[in-house]
Amino acid sequence: MTAAFETALADFASVLEAGLAARLDTAPQSGEIARPARLVEAMRHAVLAGGKRLRPFLLVEVARLLNPGLTVAALMPAASAIECLHCYSLVHDDLPAMDDDALRRGRPTVHVAYDEATAILAGDALLTLAFDLLADPACHADPAVRAALVLDLARAGGLGGMVGGQMLDLAAEGRFGDGAAPNEADIRILQAMKTGALIRAATVMGARLGGATAEEIGRFSRFGDILGLAFQLADDLLDVTATESEMGKAVAKDAAHGKGTLVARLGISAVRSELDRLVAEATDLLAPWGARSETLAAAAHFVAERRR
Ligand code: IPE
Ligand code: IPE
Ligand code: MG
Ligand code: MG
Ligand code: MG
Repeated sequence: MTAAFETALADFASVLEAGLAARLDTAPQSGEIARPARLVEAMRHAVLAGGKRLRPFLLVEVARLLNPGLTVAALMPAASAIECLHCYSLVHDDLPAMDDDALRRGRPTVHVAYDEATAILAGDALLTLAFDLLADPACHADPAVRAALVLDLARAGGLGGMVGGQMLDLAAEGRFGDGAAPNEADIRILQAMKTGALIRAATVMGARLGGATAEEIGRFSRFGDILGLAFQLADDLLDVTATESEMGKAVAKDAAHGKGTLVARLGISAVRSELDRLVAEATDLLAPWGARSETLAAAAHFVAERRR
């Protein structure tokens, strides 16, 4: 990972944030009736200020690798959609009924800054906004592409993806008193669902927007799977090795909650070796694009080596 990558990610984050801020204005959009001020404020709290913006960054980088003629501005609706869905997942993940966290992105979580009901509704509205952004003609001129993007995000975000993974994650803590602790294969499935699915959606949606061939969609689906696995392994490693101020969220929580992580099961050094292998595998998938794919290769390093 390089300083140039960190700068590129930060520059992208500020562009994305400006777009999201405009979309989360208090004025109603066409077809809406009114926007309750407290709800808009809570959504802005959830979405603006902080956040690595990795998923939308991946979407944009994959799309522009395949079609360098695409502008960042043209990709902003789809990039914003995936970030809104991600932010909703964090708001709900932090709720007292879920992980019960008070700190996110270095600030109070939404239910702490507002209240639980407002946090639930802010999450609901961000989830809905994600699909609004994708269905809007501003996202892509071709309705068939828009429908494919909606399907990608729905499948990644729902029952058989992120939400399903969150359910398995809670079950793995023994919450529902139903059965044995998860084995390694169970943990890999729950992580592929709770975290991997959305990261894969980012790379697949980017590929779709870049006009990918079927082979390229498959390649970026695999690339996203690998990055998703690496991302959650790094998150679990950082829960053990990083500080609260580096992460902007509580650390040392997974073991305390009996969460099934591969760090707990395999140990820190085995997880670090796996991360190295995953970065190598991810960068190999970019070989057809040679030096043009160096930002995506740096992203793979970032996912594995990050301290935040
Ligand atoms: C946190 O995601 C939730 C996980 C899937 C581990 P990020 O680490 O991408 O959070 P932000 O968006 O940068 O705050
Ligand atoms: C969260 O996993 C994954 C989603 C929000 C879908 P974690 O619960 O480990 O994420 P953090 O550590 O709170 O960010
Ligand atoms: Mg969680
Ligand atoms: Mg959590
Ligand atoms: Mg975590």
